Amino acid sequence: TYIQNRYIDTYKVRLLFSNMILHRKVFQTPIKVFCKFIHIPSQMKCIQLESYAPTISGLNISKIASTKTNLKPNEILVKVHAASVNPIDIEMSKGYGSTAINFLRKTENIPEFPLILGRDCSGEIVAVGKQFHRLAVGSHVYCTRWVVGQGTHAEYVIVNKNEISLKPKNLSYIEAASLAYVSCTAWNALVNSGAVSNNTFKRKKRIFIPGGSGGLGSFATQLCMAYGHDVVTSCSEQNINALHKLGIKNVLNYESESYFKDLSASGPYDVILDTLKEAFKEEFMNLLKKDQSSFYISLSPTILGDVDQLGLPFGLLKAAKNYFSTLACQINDGKGLYYWGFVNPSGLILDNVRLLVEEGKILPLVDRVFKIDDGIESYKYLMEKKSCGKVVIGFP
Ligand SMILES: NC(=O)c1ccc[n+]([C@@H]2O[C@H](COP(=O)([O-])OP(=O)(O)OC[C@H]3O[C@@H](n4cnc5c(N)ncnc54)[C@H](OP(=O)(O)O)[C@@H]3O)[C@@H](O)[C@H]2O)c1
Repeated sequence: TYIQNRYIDTYKVRLLFSNMILHRKVFQTPIKVFCKFIHIPSQMKCIQLESYAPTISGLNISKIASTKTNLKPNEILVKVHAASVNPIDIEMSKGYGSTAINFLRKTENIPEFPLILGRDCSGEIVAVGKQFHRLAVGSHVYCTRWVVGQGTHAEYVIVNKNEISLKPKNLSYIEAASLAYVSCTAWNALVNSGAVSNNTFKRKKRIFIPGGSGGLGSFATQLCMAYGHDVVTSCSEQNINALHKLGIKNVLNYESESYFKDLSASGPYDVILDTLKEAFKEEFMNLLKKDQSSFYISLSPTILGDVDQLGLPFGLLKAAKNYFSTLACQINDGKGLYYWGFVNPSGLILDNVRLLVEEGKILPLVDRVFKIDDGIESYKYLMEKKSCGKVVIGFP
């Protein structure tokens, strides 16, 4: 009946067949057979670098690449509907982190070029590896990609089973993509570090997160609020209203002359999440509570830059020296941990975030959406630093 109905979308019919095969496990077909049920074009649109360049305009980019469909048992092929643009994409296009990342690529036999950027996406599962049974073909998902391996600024991406979760039902693909990478960073830095937890049985903390109008800051501020803590954030005057609309009340204007006085008046803080590359490290450190349980979390670990500069062993030593000297100063001063926050591309984090989003406790903040054909313009736009919230690439 399905097939006879000439108005039915043939895609849905193919989906039905592939889901039947998946659930009944009629036979363990190799992945290429699945791909025949759901048509996957051999070529896809993408932003693919052939080399690094110091400026976006200087990049040698190809907009078409062949679609990879050879899945390992723990991998999933996702048809991308949206992918966000993050500062790390711009940095990686300049070669930032390439020494350490190349070391990791070698262990997995992954070539450096051609390189597709993009670290998160939302979309639909179109094929799954033999050992992946958690989600079926056709599931609507969002994912964060580990820095090694193909990025998400492409129509199709292969993701690892640990990097994927169901998309929050109440969000569009664009909105879901806007949250994936920043949530895996903020959650890892704040919750997995032990700095912030659900306040139900614990003490309410006073937290400062500068850059609340940024992709990361807007998520991190709402996460801490959802967990019942007092959060102060800051942004430029023109973006304060956008944060109020998200329900964030304590917003300071960093352009105001009384900014540091106001910050100090609402401190001291139990936790500071530095989203500003430590540009105001000294000023912010002074605002941290003199208590061994306080946390200064920096999202700008020097490790990748140091390894680029000095190579693996000496770069690691320099980064360790940087880290431990700051930690020692802080502890000497009677304060708690100095901590480096890294992204953790984890489906478990995305699961937790989905629950908070579906409860309406966290709202996305999307500034602008670009088409994949204009993808490189989205990089330029992010670099101009005029956005309030996330820049996202949408795929038709
Ligand atoms: N370590 C990791 O794994 C990791 C992962 C993700 C992100 N990060 C880092 O986290 C940082 C934030 O990322 P993002 O995606 O949120 O960037 P973003 O979207 O570009 O946001 C940056 C925000 O900083 C605000 N800002 C600029 N100067 C400020 C100041 N003096 N005081 C207060 N706020 C100020 C801007 O506010 P206005 O627009 O209102 O001026 C903007 O909203 C970046 O440095 C990024 O590299 C690190």
